[in-house]
Amino acid sequence: MSVSPSASPSVPSSVSSAASAPTQADLLDFVRRTAADRELIASLPLDPEGRTWVRLEGPGGSEAWLIGWPPGTGTGWHDHADSVGAFLTASGELKENALAARLPTDGWKTLELTDGVDRERRLPAGQGRAFGRHHVHEVLNESSDRHAISVHAYYPPLPQIRRYSRSGPILRLEQVERPEDWQ
Ligand SMILES: [Fe+2]
Repeated sequence: MSVSPSASPSVPSSVSSAASAPTQADLLDFVRRTAADRELIASLPLDPEGRTWVRLEGPGGSEAWLIGWPPGTGTGWHDHADSVGAFLTASGELKENALAARLPTDGWKTLELTDGVDRERRLPAGQGRAFGRHHVHEVLNESSDRHAISVHAYYPPLPQIRRYSRSGPILRLEQVERPEDWQ
């Protein structure tokens, strides 16, 4: 039987410390192992009308999610503030648009991006990535007919998500969401 999150050794978040804080590599390893658990992946309810989520127990007190993406859905531009994270496609294919620039997190409403900061990557099943703090991205399922399923993990557990709108080079902060809004 493959490893499921509930079977993984874990440290309750209340006692996690700098010494036990999972790294980006730990989170990527977790999402890779979890995506390989076909029974778990198959247990996610799928809805053609919208994304679906199941909360998982991530390593070292991290926050983890299994997410189902109907064709044509996406997150919109956002970041995860001071959390690092990792995600990996378990089935179907996702696309990530990201900014290869460190943006100040606070103290602005709009920013004009310079040329050359946009990055695109396609993440077919088995492919994923880790990211550092203040990573700004959007994730999409561009398929016209196929669901995608992915596994995500964040540490520290998401304190907030900043949502942006994008018009050409202009990035505008639209909303700051707490995790309870994000679900
Ligand atoms: Fe994200």
